[in-house]
Amino acid sequence: MRLLDVGCGPGGLTRALVDVVGAENVSAVDPSEPFAETCRERVPGADVRVAAAEELPFHDGSFDAALAQLVVNFMTDAERGVGEMKRVVIRGGTVAACTWDYADGMTMLRAFWDAAREVAPEDAAKVDEGVTMRYSNSAELTDLWRAVGLDDVEVGELWVSADYEDFDDLWAPFPSGLAPSGAFCASLDSARQETLRLAYSRRLGDPQGPFSLDARAWYAVGRA
Ligand SMILES: C[S@@+](CC[C@H](N)C(=O)[O-])C[C@H]1O[C@@H](n2cnc3c(N)ncnc32)[C@H](O)[C@@H]1O
Repeated sequence: MRLLDVGCGPGGLTRALVDVVGAENVSAVDPSEPFAETCRERVPGADVRVAAAEELPFHDGSFDAALAQLVVNFMTDAERGVGEMKRVVIRGGTVAACTWDYADGMTMLRAFWDAAREVAPEDAAKVDEGVTMRYSNSAELTDLWRAVGLDDVEVGELWVSADYEDFDDLWAPFPSGLAPSGAFCASLDSARQETLRLAYSRRLGDPQGPFSLDARAWYAVGRA
């Protein structure tokens, strides 16, 4: 099979696809040059290009399947992006994606935003990903897959779990400003960051030592 990873980031899914079909059968794109470069280094031999989903640099019917892991909600024009994924797969090929359930099942971010809304209600409400992120539930994904004309649409949930050494292990990246949650954290002065840290820890049951958090993603699969 020829497989395409759309919005590959640093290449977690690309690596998994290569393990299944070999690097010579895998292409990957990401609009971020640094992410594409990291993916190239991590997955030698795969065809990694800088491009957005909305304008995929491939001919019609180039792949057996196109996949996008945790990307559809970031697309500028998701209908066009998923439409492009459909265009570049063969007739009967697979178009699949998953997105975090930001509003509910993604515990790490849900607890963060609930704590943020406690500390700075008005500012946090504007950037809470449970509100701002589209296509992060089964109904919206189903509508999107049908809107681009995919057949045999199937939608469901995936559960994963991440382990942390302790609460500080979880908290460490937030003040660096990475991702919308980190940007919100970094926008607070140090006293409010500390209030947020304590509220977040409390919402997770004040873990002492190692702990795990579950997260739900919604997936959609369809045939071109
Ligand atoms: C949360 S990361 C997921 C990365 C990777 N798929 C993974 O699962 O590790 C979201 C990725 O979507 C990419 N992205 C943002 N807008 C995009 C677009 N319009 N088309 C394709 N990728 C996009 C970002 O650059 C980023 O690498």
